[in-house]
Parts: sequence; structure tokens; C-alpha cells
Amino acid sequence: MNRQIVLASRPTGVPTPANFRLIESPVRELEEGEILIENKVFAIDPAIRGMLDDRESYLPAVAIGGLIPTMVLGRVIQSRNPAFKEGDYGRGFVGWEEYSILNPANFAIENVHVDPAVPLTAYMGALGWSGITAYIGLKRIGEMKAGDTVVMSAAAGAVGSVGGQIARLSGCRTVGLVGSPEKAGLITGTFGLDAAINYRAEEDLAAAIKRACPDGADLYFDNVGGKILDSMLPQMRDFGRIVVCGMIANYNDQDNPVPILNLWQLLVHRITMRGFLAYEHQDMLAEAEAQLGAWIKSGELIALENVTTGIENTPEAFIRLMSGTTTGKTIVRLNDGVTTL
Ligand SMILES: NC(=O)c1ccc[n+]([C@@H]2O[C@H](COP(=O)([O-])OP(=O)(O)OC[C@H]3O[C@@H](n4cnc5c(N)ncnc54)[C@H](OP(=O)(O)O)[C@@H]3O)[C@@H](O)[C@H]2O)c1
Repeated sequence: MNRQIVLASRPTGVPTPANFRLIESPVRELEEGEILIENKVFAIDPAIRGMLDDRESYLPAVAIGGLIPTMVLGRVIQSRNPAFKEGDYGRGFVGWEEYSILNPANFAIENVHVDPAVPLTAYMGALGWSGITAYIGLKRIGEMKAGDTVVMSAAAGAVGSVGGQIARLSGCRTVGLVGSPEKAGLITGTFGLDAAINYRAEEDLAAAIKRACPDGADLYFDNVGGKILDSMLPQMRDFGRIVVCGMIANYNDQDNPVPILNLWQLLVHRITMRGFLAYEHQDMLAEAEAQLGAWIKSGELIALENVTTGIENTPEAFIRLMSGTTTGKTIVRLNDGVTTL
């Protein structure tokens, strides 16, 4: 049997358990060209929240009763396709389900070479699309160079925790914005950033950023949008770059986005502000994976994860992520023992 989590109702604000339902159905026989994967790790991403609203975005809305989409890493347990053999690992944007039947000819599924020296979960976090997004965003979109002052928002989160460390390892001065004193300690202690700002504790956020970046920021990597983006705009140096990775501050309430009042600063400081979708930069995948893998294996980059076990606990993991309480990559592990099919 395959257990899946589907959308029971559309959330208002932060999702609740009642928005999700667990269903079961038999796994059918494979057709020619298809593979059956036993899903091992889910990457839980804020982008899923946008797909639960009935509105147009860069990702399609999930229908009521539809499978919740997610990035999955699974082991191939049956194959009728020469591109995958049993025991291979497939990574693709599939959904919250224990087994998936896919045809690699018409579905983007990557055959991932799993290094036994690297934990499987890392392929969904620092060595997965969170780390790859940070790498592409900083290097290609942000044109980061040694000596830059780089500011990272949500700096204790999945993308931000890797991004801050990439900037440090690339010879930049690094400042992280986070939402608690514990997160501030984590990013300066464990991740080695130069400075942390707990934005919730600052009455005048712009002044706090100015104290941390007296000469301004060359590069702001934005994961959150909202008030933090607005406060960063006047603190950019001339010809600074703003990388728009995400705007999580608005995801739980897209009808009431936080207004941005300081856009004029784009002109004042001749700033380049550019959004990107990491999966559209596949040509950088090999470089990003090689560099991130080397840093993780040498211990220079810490891959922090918060791990939940079992498909039935997946909604709770997602709710915690969207409540802002997590650090590192939010991961769900499943089918850890023997194949249960
Ligand atoms: N462009 C791309 O290709 C791409 C790819 C992957 C992810 N993204 C985006 O990158 C951003 C970071 O993603 P992630 O996976 O690394 O997530 P994450 O940072 O682990 O997300 C959770 C953190 O966001 C912060 N946050 C700020 N405002 C929030 C709010 N209103 N509600 C909940 N959390 C809030 C919280 O940290 P604090 O306590 O520090 O505020 C929270 O712990 C997201 O915007 C995501 O959509 C973009």
C-alpha cells in the first residue's frame, strides 16, 4: 500500500493539521519505461505554502484532494527503464507519498550518485536544492567576490545557513539576520558568520544594520522580503546587488503583502535587484554539488538539519517550518528500515 498526504482544505495563515489528510491506495504494476521508487527523504520547503492557495504563481496550485508536492529522494526498487537500475537513487519534485511511479522520459528525475561518506539527508539539504540555491544565488545572480560584505536574511534557515557559510568560505564579510537570540548565537558560533542581528529585538532595524555594516552592504541575499528588505535598501552600497531568492514573510498571507517603501534607493545606489529560480540554472549543478560536497566532507561547512520521522508527521514538520521556529533544513525521513511494499 502507498500512503500519501493530500490537501483537505486551503489554509488561512499558518497551515493547521486539518488542512491535510492521509490516504492509502495500492501500488499498481509498472508499465514499460517506468520506475518505482521507495521514498526515503522529503525536503520540506516554504514554496509548498504558495501552492496551497488557489492563486497563480510560478508553481501551479494544488487541487483539493491533490497530492502535496515536494522534493523527494528515493531508492529505485523496480525498474523498467534503462536510465535507472534497482538500488539507484532518484531525486525529483514528486510529493508527500511513500512510493512513486515515474517515467524518466517525461518526468524530471535526477539519478543521484550517493556517496556513502555523506548522510543521505544531506542530498536534500546542504547538498540538495537548498545548498544549490544558495550557491547559484550568491555566485551567479549576486556575482559575489572575496572582500564583499554579504548580508543574509533567514540566516539560520535551510538556504540561509548554507549561504552564510558559502560567503564566509569565499572570503566575504558576513552578516546574518535572524529571528531569535538562539539563532543569532548559532550563526556566529556554529556557522562562523562575522555578525548577527536579531531583527525582532531591534526597534530601529535600519540603525542595527548600519552598525553591523558601517560601510554598507555589497550583496544582500533576500529570503524573506517585507520589512527586512525595506530596511536593507538604504543600507546598500553604490552598485550593490540584491538577490531575490524568496519572500517568506508574505507566504502565509499573500493577500496582504508587507509594503516596500524604499524602492527609490534602487536608483539612489544604482542597485541591481534580480530574482531567480535555482532549477533554471541546471548548468551550475555539477559545480555546486562538487564544491558543497567537498566543503561538507572536509567539515568546513556544517549541514544543519531538523529531522522528523514518518509520513504521518510530515504536516507537523511543514507547520513548524511555516511558523518560523526551525533551524537548518526541515527534513522528513521515511521507510528507514527494509522495503515495506
Ligand atoms: N528561488 C529559488 O529557487 C528558491 C529555492 C529554494 C528556496 N527559496 C526560498 O528561499 C527562502 C528560504 O527557504 P528555506 O527553505 O531556507 O526556508 P527557511 O529559511 O528554513 O525558512 C524558515 C525561516 O524563515 C524565517 N521567516 C521570516 N519570516 C517568516 C514568516 N513570516 N513565517 C515563517 N518564517 C519566516 C524564519 O527565520 P527567522 O526566525 O530567522 O525569521 C524561519 O525559521 C524562502 O523564501 C524560499 O521560498 C527559493
